[in-house]
Amino acid sequence: TLTQAEKAAVVAIWGKVASQADAIGAESLERLFSSFPQTKTYFPHFDLSHGSVQLRGHGSKVLGAIGEAVKNIDDIGGALAKLSELHAYILRVDPVNFKLLSHCILCSVAAHYPNDFTPEVHAAWDKFLSQVSSVLTEKYR
Ligand code: HEM
Repeated sequence: TLTQAEKAAVVAIWGKVASQADAIGAESLERLFSSFPQTKTYFPHFDLSHGSVQLRGHGSKVLGAIGEAVKNIDDIGGALAKLSELHAYILRVDPVNFKLLSHCILCSVAAHYPNDFTPEVHAAWDKFLSQVSSVLTEKYR
């Protein structure tokens, strides 16, 4: 679990990310699909070209869920319960892909806020995103 200091670091940088959540969400997905093209197989019904309406719309949803997790940082499991069922039972996304997306979210946050992205903030966000991923994959077994 996250320490108080780690929670504070996540909440603090989210305060900045939230204002650009849509752009950071779309960028995270674009990084995911270009660096790890196998992830595109889950989105055959999407136009994944740069700046597409679907990419932006989905990026906004993903970062919206991250925002919910930040707001409920002491109960991420409760906050994302529905999303967890969706990914496990309906979408059946292979859990390895969550590490890839988390990495891309981290890169996007770092690229947008280089001065805030200290080693401590990096580590706290990494831990937070791995908790989000655990919640979204825990229903698989
Ligand atoms: C849908 C969040 C990881 C594939 C969604 C939705 C959200 C979301 C909020 C929309 C749910 C709705 O419309 O009710 C997240 C978060 C993730 C994550 C927070 C991890 C940080 C992944 C990964 C993949 C994936 C790793 C696959 C590579 C999908 C697909 C949909 C979806 C295929 C349905 C898209 C559609 O048809 O509209 N996700 N997701 N997700 N997610 Fe994820």
